[in-house]
Amino acid sequence: MALDACSPDVLELAVAEAEKHWGRRMTGVFHLSRVASHRHVGENTKESLDAVLAPKILGTAAVAELLIRRPDSFGVVFSSATALYGSYLMGAYAAASSIQEAYCWTLRANHGVDLRCWSWSMWDCDDSRERHYQMRDLAQAKGFDVLSPAQGLACIDAAFGHDQMDMYIGYCPIDAHQEVNARAFARREETLSEPAPCCTPHAQAAETSARIDTEAIVLHVLRTVLDLDEIDQDDSFIDLGGDSLTVLQTVHALETALNCTLTPDAVLFQSVRQLVTALRQKLEHPTSGE
Ligand SMILES: NC(=O)c1ccc[n+]([C@@H]2O[C@H](COP(=O)([O-])OP(=O)(O)OC[C@H]3O[C@@H](n4cnc5c(N)ncnc54)[C@H](OP(=O)(O)O)[C@@H]3O)[C@@H](O)[C@H]2O)c1
Repeated sequence: MALDACSPDVLELAVAEAEKHWGRRMTGVFHLSRVASHRHVGENTKESLDAVLAPKILGTAAVAELLIRRPDSFGVVFSSATALYGSYLMGAYAAASSIQEAYCWTLRANHGVDLRCWSWSMWDCDDSRERHYQMRDLAQAKGFDVLSPAQGLACIDAAFGHDQMDMYIGYCPIDAHQEVNARAFARREETLSEPAPCCTPHAQAAETSARIDTEAIVLHVLRTVLDLDEIDQDDSFIDLGGDSLTVLQTVHALETALNCTLTPDAVLFQSVRQLVTALRQKLEHPTSGE
């Protein structure tokens, strides 16, 4: 049945009809509607923003209304990890995802509804492989896995096994959550050959993402500029085959990615590990040493 998920009345009517048809109350509801328009931030109009925001925000409100009338039911909102790491050409979608996350907390706090918010990294499908290669690159540089269909299904099991309501799925910085994921994967091991992705609570992801991002970004930049598969963090830039031309490309790429200023010396004459540490200190205390 096709319907407008932004309309609480339409949604209520459809669910009530389904409950009548099946002779039982709704157990749970998944919110998946979105509009993904691709434009630079400055090219947005009120109409284009409304179109992207509505299914995420009004749709989440409509789901909450269903749950308020059915306190024994659960709701799961599929948000996007772009809420945490942003997006190229999909800024409105990243903003909508971020608002959607915050809105879930508010609805839970105000109405006591069982409304979970799972913010996914990217799903691997022909469509995303073709069209969104830049987003895939950015997601992976930030520590997010691109999930196969089997991994996605296993993550649903893992996420239901968590006591956390808000999670980033496919973001893997914290070992403590491996156990829950491992249990879910054990149930699906016959279908899954890839390594386990993670479910990480929103709050912990936000705390660790800046720290992990710095290392991920440095490694990503070095791999790209120097065309290397592996980076030994004890090697210097020169050890890795860098030269006066590639050092300028590296400085420029790091300055752009981390929004800071750097000298070529800082990149040339220390190990990758020392560079990461120095950059973290610089980003945490931007005015010291200047
Ligand atoms: N795909 C990914 O890699 C990915 C990653 C992270 C998070 N997610 C999240 O997962 C969810 C599903 O993603 P997806 O890739 O399956 O999205 P999708 O292929 O773009 O499909 C979105 C669906 O939402 C429907 N929709 C939009 N506005 C609606 C409305 N007002 N009422 C009812 N339906 C409406 C669209 O219907 P029409 O076709 O009729 O317009 C479309 O069928 C989304 O919430 C997305 O944010 C996806």
